[in-house]
Amino acid sequence: MPWMSLKATSALLLTAITLLGSLDSAQGLTAQDVQLNVAAGKALNDSLLWGTYRPNLYFGTRPRIPSSLSTGIMWFSGDDLQGFQNIRHTCEQGDNLHGYGYFKHDGRSFAFQKMKDPYTDIELTTEFIKVPGGRYGGEWGVRIKGKPLSEGTNPVTNLVFYVGLEGDGGIDIVSKLKNDGLKSPVKLEGDSPELGDFAIQFAEGAANTAPRSGLQKDLTKTFYWGFQAPEDEIWKTKDFFLQKVYDSARERSSMMTPEEAMSNLPSLFVLPNEISESENEVANLYFLQKVFQGAFEVDIVFNSDSSAEHLKPQDMNAKLETATTKFDQKFERTFHLSEKGFKSPEEIEFGQFLLSNLLGGIGYFYGPAIVDRSHDPFEDEEYFANRPLNAQLTEPHALYTATPSRPFFPRGFYWDEGFHQQVIGKWDNDLSLEIIKSWVSLIDDNGWVAREQILGAEARSKVPQEFQTQFPHYANPPTLLLAVQKFIDRLEQHTSVHMQMSDEPVQNRMKVSALDDPESLPNLHLENPALATQWLNTVYPKLRLNWEWFRKTQKGHKPSNGNGEVYRWRGRSENHTLTSGFDDYPRAEPPSTSELHIDLISWMGFSTRLMKSIAGHLGEEYAADVQEYDSVLQDILGNIDALHWSENDQAYCDLLLQGDGVDYVCHKGYLSLFPMILGLLPTDSPKLDAILDMMRDENELWTPYGLRSLSAADAKFNTGENYWRGPIWMNVNYLALQSLYNNYMHVPGPYQEKAQQIYKDLRNNIIQNVFAEYKRTGFVWEQYSAFDGQGKRSHPFTGWTSTVLLMMAEEY
Ligand SMILES: *[C@@H]1O[C@H](CO)[C@@H](O)[C@H](O)[C@H]1NC(C)=O
Ligand SMILES: *[C@@H]1O[C@H](CO)[C@@H](O)[C@H](O)[C@H]1NC(C)=O
Repeated sequence: MPWMSLKATSALLLTAITLLGSLDSAQGLTAQDVQLNVAAGKALNDSLLWGTYRPNLYFGTRPRIPSSLSTGIMWFSGDDLQGFQNIRHTCEQGDNLHGYGYFKHDGRSFAFQKMKDPYTDIELTTEFIKVPGGRYGGEWGVRIKGKPLSEGTNPVTNLVFYVGLEGDGGIDIVSKLKNDGLKSPVKLEGDSPELGDFAIQFAEGAANTAPRSGLQKDLTKTFYWGFQAPEDEIWKTKDFFLQKVYDSARERSSMMTPEEAMSNLPSLFVLPNEISESENEVANLYFLQKVFQGAFEVDIVFNSDSSAEHLKPQDMNAKLETATTKFDQKFERTFHLSEKGFKSPEEIEFGQFLLSNLLGGIGYFYGPAIVDRSHDPFEDEEYFANRPLNAQLTEPHALYTATPSRPFFPRGFYWDEGFHQQVIGKWDNDLSLEIIKSWVSLIDDNGWVAREQILGAEARSKVPQEFQTQFPHYANPPTLLLAVQKFIDRLEQHTSVHMQMSDEPVQNRMKVSALDDPESLPNLHLENPALATQWLNTVYPKLRLNWEWFRKTQKGHKPSNGNGEVYRWRGRSENHTLTSGFDDYPRAEPPSTSELHIDLISWMGFSTRLMKSIAGHLGEEYAADVQEYDSVLQDILGNIDALHWSENDQAYCDLLLQGDGVDYVCHKGYLSLFPMILGLLPTDSPKLDAILDMMRDENELWTPYGLRSLSAADAKFNTGENYWRGPIWMNVNYLALQSLYNNYMHVPGPYQEKAQQIYKDLRNNIIQNVFAEYKRTGFVWEQYSAFDGQGKRSHPFTGWTSTVLLMMAEEY
């Protein structure tokens, strides 16, 4: 029913499509294909329009469109004066929650979150459900429950819900406004060009209780305030709210003794029940505040006028139950953890937690970035090293992306994203393609994409100023191609399964795929070859530009004993190579333009091989590209083998050109693994044997918790910032495991058994430790100690640490 309108839309689009059809016939698409593409694009957009797309908030929604409707919650304790100052809104490590995150999240229509806040003495859950329908992406509801965290307590909790609208349109409270507050349920109505007419309801559960009132206030009421927030500042909701409540409280308490104030806390810090609109102002930001004693429950429901049937608070139980069952079933079908021996409820919960937080960290970001474009990107930095900086705001950009960590890194990172998509693509292929496409759209006409995407003032508020500017000659590992590779793998697997199952031509079978079934949306591009080809054709030109940009801007000086395919990261400084992703991993000191970097040449080998595979997939037209990739790849592999291997160290190393010769710069650790972990090393290479030995050696990389980033035998081990000088990171451990599994342990060769044993032990060690730390702390972490395995630095960090789920599932 809800998807009927989609078909109507696609019929309307037919005229435009017929025109497009002639263009696309160059890519071998029929008019019917094109029609399907447009309809599928619309279906995908609708299904991904709403989500919990504000990962930096404990709970907040915003549709995936620029300037629009933002909603969110905040809470604080009503039991002491400091409670108000410790209000919870954006995820902050300093809040010291005892674990929080999504325990279930399907990325599109269902999310279940739990948060334990010892300071407020409350455990909060948020249960989000979305219902498709209408022309504006459907409707959604969230149930928020609180209950005392400790036994036998009866805490007072303030819960604040807010709604803000940016851009065109308007929004009002339509419930009867009274000086002493509003009666539940409270209703707001609004409209905007992108969302049409909509209504929002805030309804409290029948069993809620309010504290005994003081100051003649009826605390069973909903307190409110509305005003016009300045353009583009709605994200500063918390500051607006705190200022207002503080001013009102000060006014009231000026008439009280401190003792009176203390005994009236719950009614002191409430909103003044007013809409502040001076002349020519129209309120666009509304707060609703409730004060509860003990356990409580509220439902917030967003209804779209264009939906035929409306979601009601009383429907939510049944819908949440169905969604939970479906999620659990799809989770087991996709990752089959119990088949892999993870049978306890705790282990399944852990696996679901890894997936769900990655999906719950997906966000839509929009706004200008800061870039210094004062230099020609193809000019080498050695020629402009000392010229002044010239950082400028760019045009606004949009990015739909997952994020490494909700509190600490709530924005897009290029090299993290390739890892995120390993997990997301396995769960929801089309969601992953949408994110990859969004990143690809940010590759500029020179082929550059900024490694860190800090779009808009809200995102910028989380980044120290010295790290805000991006430079168009700075690179970052091209992991996004890992994600594209995964799509191609899935595509090939999918096609061959279908071929085996039926005699019908694949082409025809897949056309049948129904756009009106929300459950088929995650696989449209797998089910339909025309869509897949179109998608690859869309991203390929930008990916190629990016590949060419790498070859032009990150080239190293040609050594006398090798060919020209050698590489050097730009953007080095003393003790740092931020662009490589391995910030403080030891390299040549002082930094020199004569360096050649082993990780970068390996990334280039990997990306070249992959570009070859994509171009091959796209057909004859790209035969010349294929040939070019092939010849570059041979040169790269030749240089890795001939130049970067140090016989003395029995390791791959960075190089430093010295006149006609080269010096090895050897710091054994993650860098030495690169040719192996990116699958560039033949199975019978004795170098593979040496790498495996280094991995397994407890004096070098091996720990009971995973591979350490720098060898314990290296002089720089565990020194300085100690970021990539010892601690264990999941991204490289994942690369190591997947490469052993895909390239070495199932392929006959002299080191096959060794590879199998290392794989088995490494996988066990990692899973056991990350799981144990999760149980101990309630979090998964950015990195793990090489000494005792304890989680370190940012948490929750459910970006690439989520690849542990793939290790459990052995889905590489
Ligand atoms: C889907 O949404 C994107 C981003 O808002 C937009 O650019 C695109 O045109 C939409 N596609 C369709 C088919 O509606
Ligand atoms: C680089 O590391 C060395 C040795 O730890 C230290 O003495 C020096 O101050 C560091 N340089 C910078 C710029 O941090």
